Amino acid sequence: MKTRITELFGIERPIIQGGMHMVGFAEMAAAVSNAGGLGIITGLTQGTPEKLAKEIARCREMTDKPFGVNLTFLPAVTPPDYPGFVKVIIESGVKAVETAGNNPQKWLPALAEAGVKVIHKCTSVRHALKAEAIGCDAVSVDGFECGGHPGEDDVPNFILLPRAADELKIPFVASGGMADGRSLVAALAMGAEGVNMGTRFVATKEAPVHENVKQAILAANELDTRLVMRPLRNTERVLINAGVERLLEKERTLGAALTFEQIAPEVAGIYPRVMVDGDMDAGAWSCGMVVGLIDDIPTVQELMDRIMAEAEMIIRKRLDGFLAAGVLSQLTTVHA
Ligand SMILES: Cc1cc2nc3c(=O)[nH]c(=O)nc-3n(C[C@H](O)[C@H](O)[C@H](O)COP(=O)(O)O)c2cc1C
Repeated sequence: MKTRITELFGIERPIIQGGMHMVGFAEMAAAVSNAGGLGIITGLTQGTPEKLAKEIARCREMTDKPFGVNLTFLPAVTPPDYPGFVKVIIESGVKAVETAGNNPQKWLPALAEAGVKVIHKCTSVRHALKAEAIGCDAVSVDGFECGGHPGEDDVPNFILLPRAADELKIPFVASGGMADGRSLVAALAMGAEGVNMGTRFVATKEAPVHENVKQAILAANELDTRLVMRPLRNTERVLINAGVERLLEKERTLGAALTFEQIAPEVAGIYPRVMVDGDMDAGAWSCGMVVGLIDDIPTVQELMDRIMAEAEMIIRKRLDGFLAAGVLSQLTTVHA
């Protein structure tokens, strides 16, 4: 399949694996890139620029296809060494960066000069337009259903994607709730030129996480995610568990007086406990409503082959079959 996104990143399939803390290691990124998509190593998971350089080198040993690095800009008192991460990305020859969390403007000139394409993840049309205005090459439009941080506007993808299509000139991918060929075709229909998936890729054979995490995803349905940290305006969609129940109880009882320190036991340092130790009640870890659509653990290659085959079948058979001759010519407006 060919879209402006496949052209931009030099990939065969318009499927991106979004950065995922403690999941987006070289194994994950290489598996997605080898299957024709764009795999992404999560920069901050590596901790230091030196370790990121090693992880990029490790990924290169596993794939000769393009892959990218995620740079998440977090609200932090002592920020990570972002200049160091950007330097390593440029020096390593990686040609794709997914930015998220905050405005990436400061880093764009250096990345552009090195020929690195930047896709910025945003949860609103106004942020997507800002990303376009500052020179991002593409955006990932992350709807309310997404795993991770959906922002504070709560607009689901059925509205957000066509709104983005109406406003943006740069290409965008649909992010949040994407699982299969149906998602891909729907995203394309709404004006996106590909999909970005998080949660779906965690439930694959290659995802380098504890088996308990994959089983929890299989066991969960679309009612099993919760929004946490809304009182702090840092909303995150996570999978329900005992730690998350405790956290929500604190949010209910403390109300507007809630501080980060009070919920730190349920939100800080949770990822290694979940992803490495398989302690599924530890606390908040990002997970999308799309868990309701996930009921197997395929290899990444199987998953992506299936998505592409299903998408083609839907377009050629199901959708084309609905068309009676002459319907298109009766329409006065067709959104391209
Ligand atoms: C376990 C997990 C960890 C994530 N960590 C990050 C992260 O560190 N940085 C980031 O930009 N997005 C992160 N995300 C968000 C994903 O990149 C992606 O935008 C999101 O999962 C899309 O929604 P979906 O889960 O419905 O596919 C994470 C998602 C998951 C499921």
